[in-house]
Amino acid sequence: MDLDLSSLHEQVDTIRTAFSYIDRFKGHTFVIRLEGALLDHPLFPILVKDIVLLKKMGIRIAIVPGARARIDEILAANNIAYRTVEGVRVTPAEAMPFVEMAAFDVSNRIMTLLAEDNCDALIGNWVKARRLGVIDGVDFLHTGAAEKIKTEIIENLLASGFIPIFPNIGWSGAGKPYNISSSELAFTAAAALRASKLFFITDFGGVSADGFSIPQGVYVTPENIVSQLTAPQAKAFLELNRDREKTHHYELVSLAYRACEAGIERVHVIDGREEGMLLKEIFSNRGLGTMIYGDPHENIRPAAHADIPEILRVMRPFVKENVLIPRKREDLESKIGDYALYEVDGTLHACGALHVYPDKSAEIAGVAVDKLYASYGIGRKIVTFLIDRATKLGVKKLFLLTTRTADWFLELGFTEGDVSVLPLEKKVAYNKVRNSLVLVYDFLKSNT
Ligand code: ARG
Repeated sequence: MDLDLSSLHEQVDTIRTAFSYIDRFKGHTFVIRLEGALLDHPLFPILVKDIVLLKKMGIRIAIVPGARARIDEILAANNIAYRTVEGVRVTPAEAMPFVEMAAFDVSNRIMTLLAEDNCDALIGNWVKARRLGVIDGVDFLHTGAAEKIKTEIIENLLASGFIPIFPNIGWSGAGKPYNISSSELAFTAAAALRASKLFFITDFGGVSADGFSIPQGVYVTPENIVSQLTAPQAKAFLELNRDREKTHHYELVSLAYRACEAGIERVHVIDGREEGMLLKEIFSNRGLGTMIYGDPHENIRPAAHADIPEILRVMRPFVKENVLIPRKREDLESKIGDYALYEVDGTLHACGALHVYPDKSAEIAGVAVDKLYASYGIGRKIVTFLIDRATKLGVKKLFLLTTRTADWFLELGFTEGDVSVLPLEKKVAYNKVRNSLVLVYDFLKSNT
C-alpha cells in the first residue's frame, strides 16, 4: 500500500503543533465561561472531559457557568415576574433565592460531571459584588456587578489542583448576595488571576460576520465566522459597527477587547455543541472559533541559519512537484539573509526570498506555503512583504521566474516580461529546458 504522504503530513503537523502548544500553555491559567444552555446538550459531558484533559496536562482551569436559561426556567416555574433592561435582568427581592438556587444548581451539575471524571472541584463565595444601583432612572435592585475576586484563595486552589467553579453570585462586604453577569464575572476573574486565556464556550459557532462591517485584512471562514482579530482589529470592528444594534456577538467582541486591554492574551469564542472544538482551538494554529488577541501570534520575520531545516521542509513538496527548483542547505546558507518567513506561534507556514543583483534589479524566489495552510492568504502576505522590502531597498526592477504559478502572480500586480529584462548573471543561468516565464513587477501601476 502506498503511504499517503499528504495525510501523513497533516497528522504529523497536528501532533507537532499540539506538542508545541502543550509546552507553551503548561502552568498557564484558563478561565472558561460555559454557556448554561449547553448543559443539556448530549455532548456536554464530553466537553467537560476535554476540560479535565487540559487540567491533566498542567493547565490551571477555572469555570464560570452561565445560568441565564436555568434562572428563566426556575423563575417561570415559580411565577416570579421580572423585567430586563438592555439585556440586563432587574432582580427583585423575591427572585433572589431562586436566582441563587439556579446559579448553584448549574455549578453543581458541572461539579458532578467533574467528579465523574475524578477531578477535584470547589464552589465558593470568593466573589465580592456591589449593587448595580440606579442607571438612567432604572433601579436594578438585586442585580449586582462583580467587584473583586479573592485571588489568593483561588490561586491556592489552582496550585493544589482544584478547579474552582464560580456561580454567578457575588456578595457585598455585609454578605448580601447579588445576581451578577457570568460573562462579566469570567472577565473579572480572568483579569484578577492574570489568566492567559478566557474562553466563551457558546451555543453558536463563534463571532459571525453576518450583519457586520469587517475591518480590512480580517480572515473570515467559509462558514462566515470571524477567525481572529488582533486587539486593534477588534477596536476597528467595534468602531465600524458602533451604530448598529448591539447584538450578543458585538458585546462579546467588546468584552474580549476589554479583556485584551486588561492583559489577558487571548480570548476565544467557540462552539460547545460540536465535539472537540475546544481541543482543536487550543492545539491547532488556526483553531475553529474566533480568537481576539493582544499578544504576537502570526508574524513575518527575516530568516536565520537555524531556520534552514524548516525552510527545506516547507519547500520540499514543491520541489518534488517541480514547482520550485531544488535548493540545498548550502544554497540557503549563502543567501539566508534574503529569506523572509511567515510563522504562527513559532511554526513555519511559508517562506520566500528577495535576491538583489548588482545592477539593482531583484528577484522574488523560493515562495512556498505549507499546503495545510494554503487558503489563508499567506502567500500574498509573504510576496507583499518582499515587494515592500524591494521598494525600501530602492530596487528599480523586480522580476521572478515561474513555470506554473504565473496566474497567481499576475493577480498580485506582476506582468509578463521576457528573458531580456533579466540581469546578466540570471540570463546566463537561464534554463532553456525549464523554459520559465519571466514576470515583472510594475511598481508604477501598483502604486496607483
Ligand atoms: N491554538 C492557538 C491558541 O489557542 C491559536 C488559536 C487560533 N484560533 C483562531 N480562532 N484563529 O492560542
